Amino acid sequence: MENRYEQLCLELKTDRKTWLITGVAGFIGSNLLEELLKLDQTVVGLDSFSTGYQQNLDEVKSLVTTEQWDRFTFIKGDICTLEICRRVCESVDYVLHQAALGSVPRSISDPITTNQTNISGFLNMLVASRDAGVSSFTYAASSSTYGDHMALPKVEENIGRPLSPYAVTKFVNELYADVFYRSYGFKTIGLRYFNVFGKRQNPNGAYAAVIPKWISSLLNRESVYINGDGETSRDFCYVENVIQANLLAATTSELSAVNQIYNVALGDRTSLIELYKLIQSELDNRVKNFELKEPIYRDFREGDVRHSQADISKVKSMLGYSPSHKVAEGLSEAMDWYINQ
Ligand SMILES: NC(=O)c1ccc[n+]([C@@H]2O[C@H](COP(=O)([O-])OP(=O)(O)OC[C@H]3O[C@@H](n4cnc5c(N)ncnc54)[C@H](O)[C@@H]3O)[C@@H](O)[C@H]2O)c1
Repeated sequence: MENRYEQLCLELKTDRKTWLITGVAGFIGSNLLEELLKLDQTVVGLDSFSTGYQQNLDEVKSLVTTEQWDRFTFIKGDICTLEICRRVCESVDYVLHQAALGSVPRSISDPITTNQTNISGFLNMLVASRDAGVSSFTYAASSSTYGDHMALPKVEENIGRPLSPYAVTKFVNELYADVFYRSYGFKTIGLRYFNVFGKRQNPNGAYAAVIPKWISSLLNRESVYINGDGETSRDFCYVENVIQANLLAATTSELSAVNQIYNVALGDRTSLIELYKLIQSELDNRVKNFELKEPIYRDFREGDVRHSQADISKVKSMLGYSPSHKVAEGLSEAMDWYINQ
């Protein structure tokens, strides 16, 4: 079979594994949960509900069968407590570590809390996973690690200096993971996500990501703000592509593919103004009497990089990743969810 991911899904259906998802009540974590339960896997989930929601778990419950849901065990707890981390790692095959405090602005206003969760919590999870003897530890790294390195597209080995406390924490994760491989032979894979979007991404609050925030503002007939001149660009990546990368990474049997960092993106670049137009036209097609309006431009945001685009050749060749959704396809798939919220 040509598509490595389709092949993996078929294999998993007949060979049930136990997965731990940290940050399971969050945006990406709950999407991973939904996919794994639909593949009849056994899942343990950990979350402190600091930025995640019970509602996300309830929604997944409504989308899977009772039998599938019964294979899920949820533990409310904090990765900053080592004993909790040890407890959730027991009898687990694969760890998908997503729990972290996201958002560059949050880390600028409160670097200490971001550091505690993203570095100390990460280290707890590494130690607990290593001691429990899990088969692999796949973790959410970030494109913010490219920092002030200007070259495009971003290639894994060429990084710059971090531009925010958040970026520091995500880079330290990579350093720790590498050291755990060298010191203990512990198998880790870091996935540098680039601007992920999709259903269950929180549209509310000061630290909301741009896509859900804009959709919500447009639906509520509120003004939409663009930080900068609109030409700032990102490699927006639909969450289905991220799920695929996680499952391929966790289960890889290629030794050369572990202790690696991979870009997870589309390999494309969309400017904010292009994104705005795409979202407006999606909403215009679906919402009766939708009001088209111009965005309001304001200052560039502190700590933001100007352009971002990933080179995804490494993740394609080493893990067999093949993104299933382009930006417009992802937006189209996620839009009904936002409208129904
Ligand atoms: N969304 C993106 O575009 C993006 C881009 C790059 C990297 N990432 C990374 O992906 C991961 C998931 O991000 P997301 O967008 O789903 O964010 P999210 O905030 O929706 O999910 C994070 C989850 O982790 C949980 N959490 C936070 N601190 C915790 C703690 N101390 N103990 C236990 N649980 C805790 C939160 O309650 C939440 O449910 C994060 O590591 C983030 O840094 C996301």
